[in-house]
This record gives sequence, C-alpha cells and structure tokens, in this order.
Amino acid sequence: MSASDAQQAAPASGVSAGLVSLVGAGPGDPELLTMKAVRRLAEAHVVLYDTLVPLEVLALAPRASCFCVGKRAGGRGVPQPTINRLLISLANRGKRVVRLKCGDPFVLGRGGEEAMAVASAGIRVDIVPGITTAIAAPALAGIPVTHRGLSSGFVVISGHAEDAYLRTIASIAPGSLTLVILMGIATKRALVARLLGCGWDAATPAAVLLAASTPRAFTWTGPLVELAAVSLEACGNDPGTIVIGPVIGIRASLVAPHQAMARPMSVADRRAESVKATNGPNA
Ligand SMILES: C[S@@+](CC[C@H](N)C(=O)[O-])C[C@H]1O[C@@H](n2cnc3c(N)ncnc32)[C@H](O)[C@@H]1O
Repeated sequence: MSASDAQQAAPASGVSAGLVSLVGAGPGDPELLTMKAVRRLAEAHVVLYDTLVPLEVLALAPRASCFCVGKRAGGRGVPQPTINRLLISLANRGKRVVRLKCGDPFVLGRGGEEAMAVASAGIRVDIVPGITTAIAAPALAGIPVTHRGLSSGFVVISGHAEDAYLRTIASIAPGSLTLVILMGIATKRALVARLLGCGWDAATPAAVLLAASTPRAFTWTGPLVELAAVSLEACGNDPGTIVIGPVIGIRASLVAPHQAMARPMSVADRRAESVKATNGPNA
C-alpha cells in the first residue's frame, strides 16, 4: 500500500467511510491504463463509467456493479447533478466507487466538478490520472504534439461549441503551437472556417485520428483547407481527435507508406478488418 493509499484508508472522523476514485481510463486500449487504475477497478464495489470506456476495461472490475452514465455527442446521458448525487450517496453507504472517464478525468471531462461536489459532501476523493487522448491519439499515429524546431507547445481545446474555443484560437498566433481539438469532428467545417479567418495558412498540415488505440483506429491527414470537407461517414460513430500543425509531418518518417495512405473503409469492412486483427490474418 502506498503512502497516499494509507491516507485514503484512514478517514478523519465525521468523514464518510466510502471512497470515490476519479479514474482515467486512457484512450481505449486496456494496456494503457495505469497500474493504480487497474487496482482501483479491482477493488471497486461500483463503477460509473462513460460511453467511450470499452468493455475490456470494465472487465477489470469483476466485483463491481457497472453503470453507464455517459452520453455521446448530441445524445442524452445522465445529467451531471444526478451523477454527483449518485457518487455521494454510494460513498455514504460505504462503497468504493470508481468514476471511470475516458482519457484523463481532468482534461475536458468535467472531472473537476465531480471531485469538488464529492469533496464538499465530506467524502474522500482520490484522483487517478489517465493518459489523455489529446496526447495519446496523435502519439499512436506517429505525431508528437511538440517537436524541436516545429512546435514548442500545444493547446487542447473542445470543438463542440464555438463559444468554448473561439477566444482561445483568437488569442494564439496562427501556426505558433500545435492545436489539438477534442469533440470537434461534427463541427470541423466551422472550426476550419474560424481558423482560416484568424489567419491560419490553408496549407497547414491537419490530421484526424479516429478510435485511437483500438483495432478500428484510422488516421486521415491532409491540408487544413481539406479538413473541412473530408468525409468520415464511413467511420461510423467512432470518437476522433483533430491535430493541426507542422508536427504532423513527423508521421511520414515513422509510419510505413501503405499505412499513411489508408483511406476510410465502410463500417462493415472495418469490422471485418478488426476481426482479422483479433483472430489473425487467416480469419
Ligand atoms: C469528453 S472528451 C473527454 C476527453 C478525455 N478526458 C481525455 O483526456 O482524452 C471526449 C473526446 O475525446 C476524444 N477521444 C476519446 N477517445 C478517443 C479515441 N480513442 N480516439 C480519438 N479520440 C478520442 C474525442 O475527441 C472525444 O470526443
């Protein structure tokens, strides 16, 4: 047991015996969970998870009752105040609760709000950071978010609503940093228009990384101006991360040409491919 675990195990008087662990599940591949995340899942009585968390990760919580409380873009999920109330009431009944979120809980995941709600109810919270897709999705596609001589920093924004990102993109010099956009696939046309309007070069390299770290992973690259119109419909409902900046050029040195040229397949083809990947080339 680590020092921080020992502290967790010794509640101050008047504090609930339950524990809420806010755990990052990483981008999807269960092998990208931290050891602490795996341990928290193994110990959990209840897991409240987001839609993007794969079943293989939930299998690491064999003793727990698992409930999906997440929503996909545009869909309905359990309202945030209800999730907060659930976390608090389960912990007040002495449960070890894991709130399992994709990527890192504190990166565009409302983890801070949940942690504050639980802490203000006098319940112990522990934070188990995860590997954020903002870094992992590009990395797995051979794109470092920073690279000496190309980009000395990166900005992560949510693309789901203009008022969420407009001030940020207006405040950075065009092309000065790598831009990583989560929740931006559905709004990419408006995003590109805004970036061009802010002075970004139409030829700036762009990438879309879908279903990163899963057997369905797919990467598109092209100039910023083409990102607006590129059709990703064949890729179904997979989550995607957008990267914009010259660091995308590094991918060419790291990825075999036939992979770099891959185009979206139909959903059926992609399923067949992932079955092949799971069962071997003769499947
Ligand atoms: C609500 S945000 C949560 C981000 C998360 N907290 C993190 O640190 O990665 C969900 C967005 O993450 C991105 N995302 C999640 N999983 C992904 C994956 N496997 N591949 C690409 N992007 C992913 C997508 O942009 C998706 O819309």
